[in-house]
Amino acid sequence: MTESTVKTYPMPVADGSPKASETLLDLRNLSVSYQMAGRQLKAVRNVDISLRSGEIVALVGESGSGKSTIGHALMGLLRYEDKVTVSGTAVLRCKDGVTRDLFAISDREMKRVRGNDISIVFQEPMSSLNPLHSIGHQITEALLAHRKLGRNEARERVLYYLRRLGIPNPEQCMERYPHQLSGGMRQRVMIAMALCCESKLLVADEATTALDATVQAQIIDLLKSLQAETGMTILFITHDLGVVSEIADRAIVLYAGQIVETAGTKELFDNPHMPYTRALFDAIPRLGSSLMKDYELRGIPGRAPSAFERVGGCSFHPRCAYATEACRATMPELDATQRGHLVRCLRWKELQLGGCDEFAAARR
Ligand SMILES: Nc1ncnc2c1ncn2[C@@H]1O[C@H](COP(=O)(O)OP(=O)(O)O)[C@@H](O)[C@H]1O
Ligand code: SF4
Ligand SMILES: [Mg+2]
Repeated sequence: MTESTVKTYPMPVADGSPKASETLLDLRNLSVSYQMAGRQLKAVRNVDISLRSGEIVALVGESGSGKSTIGHALMGLLRYEDKVTVSGTAVLRCKDGVTRDLFAISDREMKRVRGNDISIVFQEPMSSLNPLHSIGHQITEALLAHRKLGRNEARERVLYYLRRLGIPNPEQCMERYPHQLSGGMRQRVMIAMALCCESKLLVADEATTALDATVQAQIIDLLKSLQAETGMTILFITHDLGVVSEIADRAIVLYAGQIVETAGTKELFDNPHMPYTRALFDAIPRLGSSLMKDYELRGIPGRAPSAFERVGGCSFHPRCAYATEACRATMPELDATQRGHLVRCLRWKELQLGGCDEFAAARR
């Protein structure tokens, strides 16, 4: 294939403007429980997420907060697991213009939606790539499983996306096996594989977490520019608020399976209302910060309750510096602030937590 055919491959643009405001996904009242050793483990509790076309929304929280469970539920991956109960609705506007509830459609329909209307990139590419097949074989087969394309057309598209993902010699990369690529290259391949089918919704589950900081920054820039060109929507799952400041238009903070705060990224960084979000800010590693010595990594004191535990009242109270008797007794509802920002905290109006100026300033 010549350079010019690669460059002229038409990039898809989601209907209308890349930042159109129509709802692409409306997830309502999602609850997920795993049955383990005769006990119910509530991993996700009554989560509502609405994604508009062209948005990059971050889903952020500590390990075990339920982020991947939400991503897997959307991808229909939990329907194959034993002992999992999923309830709620997830209405997705598909490419054919039809809206479908992802939790109500048949396995066959879900297979068509997966890869076609919604794609996922996982944290660890080695667990998704088959070590026995070349990269070219794997991506082309995945593409052909979802799109009616000729082999040459499919190969052309794969090469286009490998090149867009910054892979220097895509033809050579197609011939390679997963173990012959670096971690950063493998992750680029996985993203190319997800983008090839040109889904409107990409779920990136800790897609840059395993990469070193430089490669992570390159991949984030690439995702942002691809998003701006195509108008796709990205649900970017991460435990790192530093990454959220780099990529997301909006952020949803999850704690112990519940949404505890959601706002536009700038608003969240300027005015966090939930002590947990503020604690996540404090846990972002700073390098060369004026506030701290050269490098400091701070965790949040205590630990999140396991999904088996039932913490009465606010689930963050055992770790919260501002907890009162009321917090131990009453579970806060999500409350809307004046700026269309939602927060689950009984005391948000009286607490003056302060913004995260350092990261607000660094945000591009
Ligand atoms: N297949 C499973 N079986 C049992 N428990 C699970 C399973 N997957 C996740 N969990 C539990 O559900 C909770 C949420 O997990 P997960 O969604 O992976 O969190 P995160 O992605 O935020 O780290 C955790 O307590 C985890 O141990
Ligand atoms: S409700 Fe109470 S315990 Fe929960 S975050 Fe707010 S102040 Fe802390
Ligand atoms: Mg996870």
